[in-house]
Amino acid sequence: MIEVKGFSFTYPTGSRPALCDIGFEVGPRELCAVVGGSGAGKSTLAGVVSGTVPHLTGGTAQGAVQVNGRDLADTPLSGLVGEVGLVMQNPFNQISGARFSVREEIAFGLENLGVPRDEMVARIDPVLHDLGLAGVADRSPYELSGGQQQLLAIGSILVMRPTVMVLDEPTSQLDAAGNALVFEALGTLKEKGVTVLLIEHRMERLARAADRVLVLDRGSIVANGTPEEVLADERLEQWGVAPLRYTMAARRAAARGLWPARRPLPVTLDAAAAGFGETAGHPDRGDRR
Ligand SMILES: Nc1ncnc2c1ncn2[C@@H]1O[C@H](COP(=O)(O)OP(=O)(O)O)[C@@H](O)[C@H]1O
Ligand SMILES: [Mg+2]
Repeated sequence: MIEVKGFSFTYPTGSRPALCDIGFEVGPRELCAVVGGSGAGKSTLAGVVSGTVPHLTGGTAQGAVQVNGRDLADTPLSGLVGEVGLVMQNPFNQISGARFSVREEIAFGLENLGVPRDEMVARIDPVLHDLGLAGVADRSPYELSGGQQQLLAIGSILVMRPTVMVLDEPTSQLDAAGNALVFEALGTLKEKGVTVLLIEHRMERLARAADRVLVLDRGSIVANGTPEEVLADERLEQWGVAPLRYTMAARRAAARGLWPARRPLPVTLDAAAAGFGETAGHPDRGDRR
């Protein structure tokens, strides 16, 4: 559970707040996506919820952030290990550099948590398998492709079984297959009751997987709703986020009376196909002369 209330934050060198008076909640079994243009404050928010901001960055903060009922201002970072997992934007920064193989790298966090050896082994293999890393388990983390490093960064957090998981653009270097593995893993986490905050710029998958979408614009939350409500909002582009092709196509069709009036604009392929199918079959569709 994540609860943020009236929270503002300014970096030590910042001339203006990176986050201004934000408030939202994400519950267990919920996947909340965060979108927004470059510099909107997404990574800062990831840091806030995982405790690195302001504990490691310094800077000034106001307001309250609670994770599983604990106030982060009063919780040392060490108290959050194993409870909140952060997958950072650049996977290279997350590799410990202290371990020689992918398998050992995934074990690293568990060693620090003091998990018994048998349990470590039992946890690691399924994670390697789920993320398609079983074939490279004995390779050095530095020999992996960018996409595989990204999967490794996710795996080394997943294996610790955090109850709150924060992912900062975890699929930026992944191909479609890798992307699908990550979203599958996130779906499984949700079923297990994990709270997921996902910063992501690939909208198609997000529109199907997210329960809720937050939009950050210059440090403020400007929208918070279902993917249908938020991603079809006509202000999306103003907020620095590219609308989905399905939505744009339907919006143009709607302007010519070619989108069923009672249907909301689509944010998924299925919803687009259903809406266009309906107009195509309609006897007095607007393109007849
Ligand atoms: N370590 C830092 N020190 C000072 N300013 C920072 C730091 N990190 C980010 N910022 C500033 O905070 C704002 C939000 O950045 P960030 O959270 O990285 O945005 P996003 O992830 O949405 O691109 C930007 O104006 C950025 O320049
Ligand atoms: Mg960022």
